[in-house]
Amino acid sequence: MPGFNFEDIDSQISRDFDSAQDAQALESLRVKYLGRRGILAELTSRIPDLPDEQRPLFGQEVNRIKRKVSELLEEKKKALGDMSAYPEAVKRQAREIDVTLPGITQELGHRHIITQVIEEICNVFVRLGFAIVEGPEIETEYNNFTALNIPLEHPSRDVFDTFYLSAGPRAEASKSKLLLRSHTSPVQIRAMKSRKPPLAIVVPGRVYRPDAVDASHSFMFHQIEGFMVDYDITFSDLKGILEFFAKSVFGGNIKMRFRPHFFPFTEPSAEVDISCIICKGKGCSVCGQKGWLEILGSGMIHPNVFRHVGYDTTKYTGFAFGMGVERLPMLRYGIDDIRLFYGSDLRFLRQF
Ligand code: PHE
Repeated sequence: MPGFNFEDIDSQISRDFDSAQDAQALESLRVKYLGRRGILAELTSRIPDLPDEQRPLFGQEVNRIKRKVSELLEEKKKALGDMSAYPEAVKRQAREIDVTLPGITQELGHRHIITQVIEEICNVFVRLGFAIVEGPEIETEYNNFTALNIPLEHPSRDVFDTFYLSAGPRAEASKSKLLLRSHTSPVQIRAMKSRKPPLAIVVPGRVYRPDAVDASHSFMFHQIEGFMVDYDITFSDLKGILEFFAKSVFGGNIKMRFRPHFFPFTEPSAEVDISCIICKGKGCSVCGQKGWLEILGSGMIHPNVFRHVGYDTTKYTGFAFGMGVERLPMLRYGIDDIRLFYGSDLRFLRQF
């Protein structure tokens, strides 16, 4: 072909594309070859001046060069990681991400104040060798009352009277009416039936009573039960352990007193008071001017309870106690409404 060599163009293209290292260089090559006044436009414009017999071959060569340049451009763009290799949606997203904006922090929750207090109290007993055991909130009438020496017609059932569940297949299978437990004491029965002494156990959990709800009463609240059974467990073991507990939780300076009381499942029984942590025993509105706060019920496990679980009453003795959980954080933080614990107001819950 006169004055023109396609092979020269081929090698020129190879050299150009080998040395192009970024998108800008590629763009200049596109303009150089495919642009309106580029090399290929120039070659195309020569076709009309060529002799007829040369035109087809020349045209084919021009088209080949055009394809070659286009292909090289695409390949090179991909190799340089150009976004054109990606679908349109991905490109749009990439443009919309503003890496200078602050990120979305993951908020970490924390344990509810009641859970924290339960753990704090249980840990005192765990340090003394007690094991933590839990029981179901749906109990049998037998475990909640009868096995705890609270017979059917006993007036003290009124105090613990609770929510009964309507009869159903589960109630029939259990041969005893089902109810929402009114205290954690039925777990004494479950634990003693499935183990032999010696044992030392604490039981945290929810309990239910049909009380009218107000600032100091709730139909559901939390208790922690504790009991220990072995040869020769005496009332002084109970006193020593409860004193260690009260001083760990309320402080070493508090005073304690045991007041005689009655519980059907313990004999003798006592309620335990600590000197008021608000007025230090002088008398204030929180302790009703008495200087003392009642914190739990306790006593030596009644032989009739041992008979129900099959323990030899001539061999074993034991003590038991039960306390409410909500009272402690209410005193400690001056919370005046028990309902705050069960609402989900984060402004309240975040404080603890
Ligand atoms: N179960 C009793 C209550 O709910 C507390 C208690 C437990 C008393 C164990 C004595 C022994 O009031």
